[in-house]
Amino acid sequence: MSRKKITVIDLGAMKRRGKPITMLTAYDYTGGLLVDAAEIDVILIGDSLGMVVMGLDSTVPVTMEEMLHHCRAVARGAKYAHLVGDLPFLSYQADVVEAIRNAGRFLKEGNVDSVKLEGGAEMTATIRAIVNAGIPVMGHIGLTPQSISKLGGYRTQGRTAAGARRLVDDALALEDAGCYAIVLEAVPAPVAAAISQRLRIPTIGIGAGPQCDGQVLVFHDVLGLYDRIQPRFVKEYARLQEPIREAFTAFREDIINHRFPEDEHSFSMSAEELEAFHQSLDG
Ligand code: KIV
Repeated sequence: MSRKKITVIDLGAMKRRGKPITMLTAYDYTGGLLVDAAEIDVILIGDSLGMVVMGLDSTVPVTMEEMLHHCRAVARGAKYAHLVGDLPFLSYQADVVEAIRNAGRFLKEGNVDSVKLEGGAEMTATIRAIVNAGIPVMGHIGLTPQSISKLGGYRTQGRTAAGARRLVDDALALEDAGCYAIVLEAVPAPVAAAISQRLRIPTIGIGAGPQCDGQVLVFHDVLGLYDRIQPRFVKEYARLQEPIREAFTAFREDIINHRFPEDEHSFSMSAEELEAFHQSLDG
């Protein structure tokens, strides 16, 4: 069967059919190609790139221009997955018109299919306005890393009855505002299950238990490439740090021991041209 580009309509249909949605982050062309080749449904160009690609301490400093740059690179590699661009901190919170404009830039200049933004009921006017402009929006509640200062650290959200109830109300408000899906990050599994049952749109969990409609993880975490923060919800499907370090060390040792490059890595020229070249040097 020929592969088709995944749309927001397909993602809603997957929830209705009970087919789990798969999602990974990616940040560049090669990453986009690799994730797309694995037939992952959704690729998020997450502002987590501030940490895993740029080495920042949080996602807060990430800019629109940085996000757009990485979105374009991923979009060149990934042709089938639904591409989601993450609106960075302060690109949508201050002003609704600015939010529409910035969300639009993700589609026009970043070549993605939809945008994601963080926040609950307080974001509904902004979400409505972006959706009314024809731009699909994925919500994100629970642990929202752009509000890390307010949350006081990377901690699980909704662990009290009142906090859990607020998350349910936030999720319903986001659905009502027009979101096509919602990321639930670091939320107790029973709370995520209750939200997923109550919503018509899909939930995508990260540290939110098995009963979400889909699951997302960060590219570098799945490959065991980033160890500055290792949340409990991460599953490493490979440990690539060590083999990569070994490859770089082998490269260095080959060079200093004159084992690289070999003939197969070098270019030759015809005997006559070489002879003429040497004569030109001697003359
Ligand atoms: O930026 C990101 O990678 C995210 C995911 C963790 C959902 O928002």
